[in-house]
Amino acid sequence: MQVNLRHIHKRFGAVHANNDINLTFHAGRIVGILGENGAGKSTLMKILSGFQPVDSGEIWIDNRPVAYTGPQAAIRNGIGMLQQDPLDVPAFTVLENFIYGGGDGVFLPRKTAARQLREISQRFGFELDPDMPISQLSIGQRQQMEIVRLLTLGVKLLILDEPTTGISAEQKQVLFDALRELASKDGLTVLLVSHKLEDVIALCHEVAVLRAGRLVGTRNMPATNAQLVTMMFGQQLAPQTRKPLDLVHAPDALVLENVNIRGSRVHIENLSLRQKAGEVIGLAGLDGSGQELMLRACVGLQKTAGGRVRLKSEDVTGQSYRAFLAKGVAFGAAGRLEEGLVEGLTLTEHVALATENATLIDWTAAHKHCEAQIKLYDVRGRPESMIEQLSGGNQQRVLMALMPPSPILLALEQPTRGLDVDSARWIWEQLLERRDRGAAILFSSPDLDELVAYSDRILVFYAGQFFEIPDAGRTTIDEIGRLIGGHFEVQHA
Ligand SMILES: Nc1ncnc2c1ncn2[C@@H]1O[C@H](COP(=O)(O)OP(=O)(O)OP(=O)(O)O)[C@@H](O)[C@H]1O
Ligand SMILES: [Mg+2]
Repeated sequence: MQVNLRHIHKRFGAVHANNDINLTFHAGRIVGILGENGAGKSTLMKILSGFQPVDSGEIWIDNRPVAYTGPQAAIRNGIGMLQQDPLDVPAFTVLENFIYGGGDGVFLPRKTAARQLREISQRFGFELDPDMPISQLSIGQRQQMEIVRLLTLGVKLLILDEPTTGISAEQKQVLFDALRELASKDGLTVLLVSHKLEDVIALCHEVAVLRAGRLVGTRNMPATNAQLVTMMFGQQLAPQTRKPLDLVHAPDALVLENVNIRGSRVHIENLSLRQKAGEVIGLAGLDGSGQELMLRACVGLQKTAGGRVRLKSEDVTGQSYRAFLAKGVAFGAAGRLEEGLVEGLTLTEHVALATENATLIDWTAAHKHCEAQIKLYDVRGRPESMIEQLSGGNQQRVLMALMPPSPILLALEQPTRGLDVDSARWIWEQLLERRDRGAAILFSSPDLDELVAYSDRILVFYAGQFFEIPDAGRTTIDEIGRLIGGHFEVQHA
């Protein structure tokens, strides 16, 4: 199947999200869709898969124009997109969910569904048990289920938007092998939207790069990381350097002594840790392995059940989140809009709420301060913009602007989740500046490269157990990948 986009335009108010996009996708090719945050990648993919109507322009399939009225129609035309947050019903089993579908309104006959689920899973080594409740699937398994479903529905062009976030190294390998085989043997076209250039380099035959709504170019692979970065940002990024810090003589920032944490899914027993001022500790693990529990216990959001927590030399065990904040802790939640930022509030209102005396707000001063922060943190937005109108990268910038400049401890869940390479580096510049002023940084990340690049030490969690990598500079992505999968014994050999 050959798919051809002609003069695609899409606007959201003043934003020209897709500006005259012309692209052709051929059978059997894996195409990387690249571009900075807000470039228009997801918009284009949603138009192609029928989740969003186009303003003007045409989609041609095998030299005939087609018109879409929704995802169902797109699937009938052979185009399907893997949903990032599938709209599945938690009480359903894998098979039931498979039959009733991923929010696209297409149902499968039960017999066909059961057979296809078994056959396609076997072919690609997916670990899908039809009778398993959907709530027990990992992100990687849900993704496998969605792929099998779209293949069963006869999809010939498969779109994946950031598919490798939150899945294990093994699952990523299984996914990539499946995509390669689907392209080479079945002639499928695969579109991969990703900020992980290593993944693009490993998988794609060609790339298309968007910038500010326009197509800036296409090229065949292979290409180096540097070449892709230049296409995306119009220039090379300066290398990021870290000032070496004397951690041996630095005072303690955070001390955990034999801490127990009881979460709803995992328990952490007997965790002891001494984190120095200026030390960066990365927390690795698949979703729900215990790293989020630990991080939240260190900021007073998760109760500890035994042991002591100290900030500097002060015992803060059992104190509230507010007390932790007052003592110099800053927390950044992974769900920016669920926890860190408030939908419906403007940037000025966020700035005003983050200042200490939120009951007596001087709005003129808040507006001025907000303008200064927007400038300082290079936020693409205005003081009166609602937070949800900003792209992900800009929301993350606002969160940084709201953080205290010199905290004792910065605890961050996935600080660069969904950010493009340039925005992610910018965030780390801000974090490392705070580190240079003595802040200890504790962060979780699904991105192994990020863990290795910025951590002094890494703690790997698996089902509540943990393993310490004392010198992050001497570990490898492969080693962390194995540990994340629970293979702690490899280390002791
Ligand atoms: N539903 C919407 N309403 C208003 N503006 C939108 C909407 N969807 C996207 N936009 C805007 O359109 C532009 C393109 O957004 P899009 O989500 O396509 O970018 P992207 O390339 O996928 O970025 P990212 O890498 O951050 O996912 C952005 O400026 C974004 O703020
Ligand atoms: Mg996107």
